[in-house]
Amino acid sequence: MNATRIGPSLLAADFARLAEDIGRVERGGADFLHLDVMDGHFVPNISFGLPVVAAVRQTTRLKLNAHLMLQDPLPFIGPFKEAGADSLVIHVEIESDLRAVLDAIRQHGLQCGLAVNPKTPVSILYPYLDALDAALVMSVEPGFGGQTFQPAALDKIRDLCAEIARRGLDLPVGIDGGVHPGNAAACRRAGAQCLVAGSAIFGAQDPACVIADLRG
Ligand code: DX5
Ligand code: ZN
Repeated sequence: MNATRIGPSLLAADFARLAEDIGRVERGGADFLHLDVMDGHFVPNISFGLPVVAAVRQTTRLKLNAHLMLQDPLPFIGPFKEAGADSLVIHVEIESDLRAVLDAIRQHGLQCGLAVNPKTPVSILYPYLDALDAALVMSVEPGFGGQTFQPAALDKIRDLCAEIARRGLDLPVGIDGGVHPGNAAACRRAGAQCLVAGSAIFGAQDPACVIADLRG
């Protein structure tokens, strides 16, 4: 059984003190950084984009996992690679040719993940599982940090992990949205191997303590 990996979501960091906040979670034991990129179309919000990813790349040795909440990610795969991302997560709900986007991510030498929204059945991911490096179950509607965890995500994680095991695949499943020390054990028990948390980590006095709690 692999150890749980913890990815702080930068959306909850202090953008005026980004390097400082990143240093706190890096020293605090984070396994990777989760960067929420929003286009104002796929989700009703705009966060940050390529220049911020490039700046973050200069401040940390952590792997950068960009969660692309973009309706049309294909033209941006190369630019995100250039900016320093290590892995890209796209959404199964986008109105693009998913296979083409996943192929492009791989062709750029990046790891690819596929995310599924709360209202989308998790089985929509199944045809793509053999083309992925990770799957991400959303436990909030994407677009905003600081929302309440939706426990229905746990059933989706269980179903997804069962399907992955049934097919003999080795594919880590992550959970994103409203994760905190009070629900992390349930996430891990359901089978989540990567926990993304924004406000719980960056809102804490001692991020190292929260990261350790989340890891269990
Ligand atoms: C939501 C994002 C999440 C979110 C996590 O659109 O994908 O990564 O920012 O933040 P918390 O942990 O505050 O829900
Ligand atoms: Zn995210």
